[in-house]
Amino acid sequence: MTQTGARPNLRRSFLFVPGSEERKLAKAPALGADAVILDLEDGVAPARKGEARTLIRAFLQAQNGRAIEWLIRVNGFHTPYFEADLEASVRAGPDALVIPKVDSPELLQLVDGHLTGAEHASALPPGSLKLFALIESARGILNAPAIATATSRLVGLILGHVDLSVDLGIRPGRAGEGIVQHARCQLVMAARAAGMDAVDTICLNLQDHEGLRAEATQAAALGFTGKLAIHPAQVSIIHEAFTPSAEHVMRAERVLETWRQAEAEGRGVCTLDGELIERPVVEAERRVLERARQAGKL
Ligand code: COA
Ligand code: MG
Repeated sequence: MTQTGARPNLRRSFLFVPGSEERKLAKAPALGADAVILDLEDGVAPARKGEARTLIRAFLQAQNGRAIEWLIRVNGFHTPYFEADLEASVRAGPDALVIPKVDSPELLQLVDGHLTGAEHASALPPGSLKLFALIESARGILNAPAIATATSRLVGLILGHVDLSVDLGIRPGRAGEGIVQHARCQLVMAARAAGMDAVDTICLNLQDHEGLRAEATQAAALGFTGKLAIHPAQVSIIHEAFTPSAEHVMRAERVLETWRQAEAEGRGVCTLDGELIERPVVEAERRVLERARQAGKL
């Protein structure tokens, strides 16, 4: 499918929409998410996988002008659904696929090979379809650095803490608690070292908006670039956490102005409000302004 229209440069929110639910699919384009994940995996009952493939394909083909990114989450490589999911997904023309339960670079390379075959069958250039790897097991977390460099199709790593918790034999709780926080740090390191998106896990509690706000703010502070959402009400809260505040933008502008003056005076360091300003500090603030610009806040 051709990609037309303005699209955001930021991927702050990734909203899951079960592929078998027509009512939710119909709402998806207007919910404000930067990216939507059309789900064929755990959000769809086994008996409805085929129907969901058909619905997703028809739905995507009806979208003209892509203001948001459309992703499809297929079932895992080792499931009986994988081949049919892949074939249907390539034909549907999404922007990228989400591969669940990635626990090794070899698994991603196998997926890559199958995808090249499916692209060939659909007369698409090999390697054109991009991937996100959903990492949701202890083995996946330990292998995250190798997974991040397994294929040039990969554009991001996503943390799935619910399956990870099952794998660890613990009750799925909040992302910021216990060993899941450790997994978050490892995933961010691996993704950022490979220069790709790092996407934080879901917040299971749909009613606790303040809890989600705290979790998303913490994710942004850890270096995540975006976060998964499961309900429309979560999207704007996530966007706020991943968009520089007006206060932060003002501070960044003051830092840059102070730096310009220091440079004009031939100095390589200076201070602002009692804090040291040096080159990496200035670079961090430039990135804040760039994110604000991409979010339409400048
Ligand atoms: N995508 C699109 N629309 C959604 C939505 C979603 N993920 N979640 C809810 N909506 C819609 C509902 O259809 C409803 O609209 P309607 O009243 O016109 O039908 C509206 O938003 C409000 O929904 P609400 O009543 O608060 O929630 P619900 O009880 O209908 O659904 C969930 C709750 C959790 C089942 C639903 O949010 C959902 O399906 N989320 C995705 C879950 C998923 O994909 N999980 C797998 C990955 S972890
Ligand atoms: Mg999962």
